[in-house]
Amino acid sequence: MCGIVAYIGDKPALPVLIQGLRRLEYRGYDSAGVALLNGDSIERVRSVGKIDFLTDKVKTRPPAGTLGIAHTRWATHGGVTEENAHPHVALDGKLAVVHNGIIENYRELKEQLAGVNFVSQTDTEVLAHLIGRHYHGDLRSAVQQALAHVRGTYGLVVMHADHPDQLVAARLGSPLVIGIGEGEHYLASDATPILPYTKKVVFLEDGEVADVSRAALETFNLKDETVAKHVEEIDWDQTQAEKQGYPHFMLKEIFDQPTVFQDAVRGRYDLTEGTGRLGGINLTEEEMRRINRVVFIACGTASYAAMIGKYAFERLVGIPAEVDVASEFRYRDPVVDDRTLVFAISQSGETADTLAAVREAKRKGAFVRGIVNVVGSTIARETDGGTYIHAGPELAVASTKAYTNMVAIMLLYALQFGRLRRVSIATGQRLLSALREIPEKMKAILAQSDEIRSMAEEYIRHRDMLFLGRGINYPVALEGSLKLKEISYIHAEAYPGGEMKHGPIALLSPDFPVMAIMTRNQLYDKMRSNIEEVRARGARVILIATVGDDRAREISDRIVYVPETMELLEPLLNTIPLQLFAYHAAVALGKDVDRPRNLAKSVTVE
Ligand code: AGP
Repeated sequence: MCGIVAYIGDKPALPVLIQGLRRLEYRGYDSAGVALLNGDSIERVRSVGKIDFLTDKVKTRPPAGTLGIAHTRWATHGGVTEENAHPHVALDGKLAVVHNGIIENYRELKEQLAGVNFVSQTDTEVLAHLIGRHYHGDLRSAVQQALAHVRGTYGLVVMHADHPDQLVAARLGSPLVIGIGEGEHYLASDATPILPYTKKVVFLEDGEVADVSRAALETFNLKDETVAKHVEEIDWDQTQAEKQGYPHFMLKEIFDQPTVFQDAVRGRYDLTEGTGRLGGINLTEEEMRRINRVVFIACGTASYAAMIGKYAFERLVGIPAEVDVASEFRYRDPVVDDRTLVFAISQSGETADTLAAVREAKRKGAFVRGIVNVVGSTIARETDGGTYIHAGPELAVASTKAYTNMVAIMLLYALQFGRLRRVSIATGQRLLSALREIPEKMKAILAQSDEIRSMAEEYIRHRDMLFLGRGINYPVALEGSLKLKEISYIHAEAYPGGEMKHGPIALLSPDFPVMAIMTRNQLYDKMRSNIEEVRARGARVILIATVGDDRAREISDRIVYVPETMELLEPLLNTIPLQLFAYHAAVALGKDVDRPRNLAKSVTVE
């Protein structure tokens, strides 16, 4: 997710824009830029890297003007370069745009803009030229007409050199807030850049367009019908605003999952053909058919996400798939060859063990692809292709939304490979239809956060917890135990349900509770038996069960119901109660949730 700031008023715009960008740096900071109207022309300055590089650039000759737009980028399309930095311009620099979101059909739109000399790889530049194509003197109308052709998400602000008292903003899927001052207006991706100047704001809703001058703010829909808005008074402080009202980044990122999940899958599957459409694989269909083995290399949460990929590839593609924690892979003298496909899974794209494993796999001749969150990161650059998971900056040390998006991308890859071998179009369509229902089903679980908090508060008096799951829910149990241990410091471990009787059951007692996933799937009865073994030892049980399974209450002390979905998609849902349980346990214990002791967000050392 990127950060947008804009100002129209009587003050010099540059200080407002720069300070605003600094307050949005938490949203992404691989490049930044400003554009100000100075007289009858737009002056633009952009830089790669943090905001400091931009301020150094403008120090010698700061652009003047009292109307301007600014942007700090979290790259999604195109590398981290100055050419790809926003603002993007059209009409020979007379029109400038800043944008947060993903234009799904930007390639089609680009083809329709024949004759345009594109200078960047971004979807936003296409948007700028599309608005320019529709501009015939009315800026708001040009924006509305252009957006009618757009599929995807946007929060954007547009300025034009011939309109010195106008900014046009629009929102669909990416937030935009407008601060109301005396004879001036502030626009931003969230309230943080606006708070120092005014607490009176208007939140744009999806499908709305704002026409902003120094004296007035009018809002419309894309058909130019007026939309009435009410002014809200916000009482957040700076840090609350960065977290959009959530007490911690981790909780915000847990609740971001329905939205960022859609960013991950948008435009990356073909429902008609029942397959995935992940172009980054950089393999022909023939090369994909030749692959006879898949190895996932990753660390921590990413390795548990990778285990879902393993199940999916074995189930849908019918080839051996294995997960190797990267720190082991790199020293194990792994057997890989030119028919092995190695996926490196990493949120940061900088994890030293995973990077070393990538280099080892390449050295041995495997196809190596990345499934990474941070665009332009080392692992993204050193793999010969792959897919960005579009989770946006994940700031809490404990990974949540990145895990979900990694799983989503691996499911799409497994389907894409599977449809070249043994998956029927009907099965593919059924899986994709189930995938499209995931965001609403996630929300149904997130709505139980308070109930899960009461469970966490009840169970934090225990110093241990055993997580149990079977089949595709075993990696879910592993991820849940990692979440709990890394932020609450409660000792937690996970076992396959069937493995418990081979030792761990000795641990169980009334003071050693169990969190178990017993959703309706092929292993339900087996899991139920395991839970009954647990109960026979007097251990308390929290169950994750499928909505409608009333019998689950008989063998649980507490229960969280999750909506039913296809077995391969269960981790996208079943992990969320465990994320929330860990979060609330850590909060109840007064731990530093976003910055747990001894941990770093990215382990760039061995
Ligand atoms: C997850 O909650 C942990 N913070 C940690 O296990 C993390 O997943 C691991 O370090 C891998 O990081 P990466 O995804 O950035 O490579």
